[in-house]
Amino acid sequence: MGAIAPATVGMLEAERGQSASAGSTVQPSTGGEESSSPRERLLMDFGWRFHFGNAADPAKDFGFGIHSAFAKTGEFCRPARQDFDDSGWEAIDLPHDFAVGLPFVDAPELVDFGFKPVGRNFPETSIGWYRRTFEIPQSDSGRRLAIEFDGVFRDAMVVLNGIYLGRNLSGYAPFRFDITDFANYGGKNVLVVRVDATEHEGWFYEGAGIYRHVWLTKTDALHAAHGGVFVKSETQGTAASVSVETEIQNDQDGQKSFRVRQTIFDAGGKRRAEAAPARALVRGWGRKKVVQKLRLENARRWSLEDPHLYSVVTQIESGGQITDQCRTSFGVREMRFDPSDGFFLNGRRVEIKGTCNHQDHAGVGSALPDRLQYFRIAKLKEMGANAYRTSHNPPTPELLDACDRLGLLVMDETRMFSSSREGLSQLERMVRRDRNHPCVFLWSMGNEEPLQGTPSGARMCAAMKRLVRRLDPTRPVTLAMNNHWGQGASAVVDVQGCNYFHNGDMDKFHADFPEKPIIGSEDASALSTRGIYANDAARGFMSAYDVNTPGHYAATAEEWWNFYSAHRFAAGAFAWTGFDYRGEPSPYKWPCISSQFGIMDTCGFPKDTYFYYQAWWSGKTVLHLFPHWNWQGREGRPIQVWVHGNCDEVELFLNGRSFGRKEMPRRGHLQWEVEYAPGILLARGYKDGRACATSRRETTGAAAAIKLTPDRAAIAADGRDVSVVCVAVLDIQKRLVPTAENEMAFEISGPGKIIGVGNGNPASHEPDKASRRKVFNGLAQVIVQSERQAGAIRLTARSTGLASAAITLHSAPPEKSVVLIP
Ligand code: GAL
Repeated sequence: MGAIAPATVGMLEAERGQSASAGSTVQPSTGGEESSSPRERLLMDFGWRFHFGNAADPAKDFGFGIHSAFAKTGEFCRPARQDFDDSGWEAIDLPHDFAVGLPFVDAPELVDFGFKPVGRNFPETSIGWYRRTFEIPQSDSGRRLAIEFDGVFRDAMVVLNGIYLGRNLSGYAPFRFDITDFANYGGKNVLVVRVDATEHEGWFYEGAGIYRHVWLTKTDALHAAHGGVFVKSETQGTAASVSVETEIQNDQDGQKSFRVRQTIFDAGGKRRAEAAPARALVRGWGRKKVVQKLRLENARRWSLEDPHLYSVVTQIESGGQITDQCRTSFGVREMRFDPSDGFFLNGRRVEIKGTCNHQDHAGVGSALPDRLQYFRIAKLKEMGANAYRTSHNPPTPELLDACDRLGLLVMDETRMFSSSREGLSQLERMVRRDRNHPCVFLWSMGNEEPLQGTPSGARMCAAMKRLVRRLDPTRPVTLAMNNHWGQGASAVVDVQGCNYFHNGDMDKFHADFPEKPIIGSEDASALSTRGIYANDAARGFMSAYDVNTPGHYAATAEEWWNFYSAHRFAAGAFAWTGFDYRGEPSPYKWPCISSQFGIMDTCGFPKDTYFYYQAWWSGKTVLHLFPHWNWQGREGRPIQVWVHGNCDEVELFLNGRSFGRKEMPRRGHLQWEVEYAPGILLARGYKDGRACATSRRETTGAAAAIKLTPDRAAIAADGRDVSVVCVAVLDIQKRLVPTAENEMAFEISGPGKIIGVGNGNPASHEPDKASRRKVFNGLAQVIVQSERQAGAIRLTARSTGLASAAITLHSAPPEKSVVLIP
């Protein structure tokens, strides 16, 4: 019997307290309710069973569909029965992606989806059954209970205790079911989810299964409705006026009178403002909206440099009892788009230096532990990016938490561009869930929709915008359009999203529509493979010089960034993409299983172009020399040597001999042709005539040893936290061997497990769920997850002919709860 683990609540609030300056060490957040609250939010990630069903053969699909499942309530499907024997099912924890562990299959219909056998032609690996049993105590009788899914890919059918609860089509929108009437109080409950990933929603790897968290929420009958607290703030000099809208739900017979109290706390837990309690009545089974205003003196702005988060605690009281208490985190910031001058945050022009991203990562597919969201966002931030587009779907909430807390703006995008009931429902669920996140600065209605330029597209977009306005009047609406700028939905959106400046005439658009702000919703699509310096169709690699694009629409990093830098009326843009992702391999198909558009590979290892962006985006001094200098056999032949960086001038040396000093063009790069001779290639950068940085590449010896470097050596023993371990192959002098391909064997002992391995090779067909992996150009990644038991986790890497390496990770009990509310 799986007990439900309570979300580690107070701890998170305490961690939030440190978040303002803690940078990338900020902890993921979950839960967020008060320990003194009658509300509980329990994480249901642990203790599931999984089994493949079958989309073509009911006998292999637990008989589903043979008998009428809907004939009598309570007898929906066999696995939902109390006495069903699931001992043969695989024991798993969430998040879980059932596609990532499948073998690669070279079928043309799978090109876009990472060559994982999911779809109409693969009925035996497209349906996943999930089953979990849990107790609901008798004392819960009379409370409202709901099961909440952050995201399931896709077409989930949910059954509790044999009773059909409903279906959810979207693979990305959150959904929930009230289970109050169906729960078995004082006994065992059986939750079954049949997931049908047969249909795709995108043109990229989407994963399959319950790949985000599942929660059980328990409240009093009189409570704040789900997604029903909305905090808006407006700056007023150094102060802020905060308005809190609360929808109070009364799920019982009879009218109730109640009082709502709102209290604002700062990130340190200090009480900063309180609203006079509002009194109101709500009828039985009804909902009432209450709006309260608070004034926050000396309001610290949420900014990219100082992403300060406040929180408001909403308390509902009725008949002398507190019936609900919940906490909503928010930020105070002022933002606006200017049609001739771009985007302003807190009164300062901020050029959007963004990346678009899909949601998968090496080793784990789409089932990312929360920590990995922070890992990825921190990498982008380190590069100097200040914005993230959740292309082309609503993200997991933890991604937004990471952006809130690390300081990145988010263009939040719905998956279905439509004013159909389904389209609006997906949009509403996204907006309601995400509207309190200060990071969200734009709602995107979709991407490159074929109907974008038509009257019908305009009508759909208008209906979508009306819905957004009703739910959130504070943020503009955009649509990422790759043609027909100025037509169709263009007239509807608040901010024109332009995908790829090559796709149209942005200057003309601006001249024709001078009142319409513009953002480059997507650009670049430049191609490169980490550590590769010549295109190689047979192996599926693209050179990492910034020269490759798949077609006329796309642009190199240097080209698109120069375009936007010269177009101040545009607010900046988002590069396609920050990270490589599975699926959509370009320009080569098989053997490539992932895209190569990333500025980083699927593990988050930077490609050379990363340093182009870092040089022109981050404000740090950057000097990056490439390629590597291991060209044995090419002695005397010319090698293109590039430097990315932002020094004024750079001088290049090979083995002490100077190739001259050159001026670094702004937003450009430097380039030399050098005849290869082994030794030391060195670039020295100068600022204001003074040496400010060096970057060197040395011809290394043969691979000799392994080095393991965890991103964090201490993790929480909560069964969820991870350490992302970099595996590097070094020569005898401890230099990275940039061409190494040695295969590693990993061994783990202690309370931890390997949940995935990767190496960023876009054509690798090695399994992700494995304890072996080759390094690719010297590097690989192992993701180690804690168990719910503290202790030392020992990870060892071995490879024939190399000195092995081992590290110890310390997994400690999660910090004690710190409750901020007295
Ligand atoms: C864009 C599209 C992206 C991706 C990209 C590849 O047009 O919006 O989803 O397909 O092309 O270059």
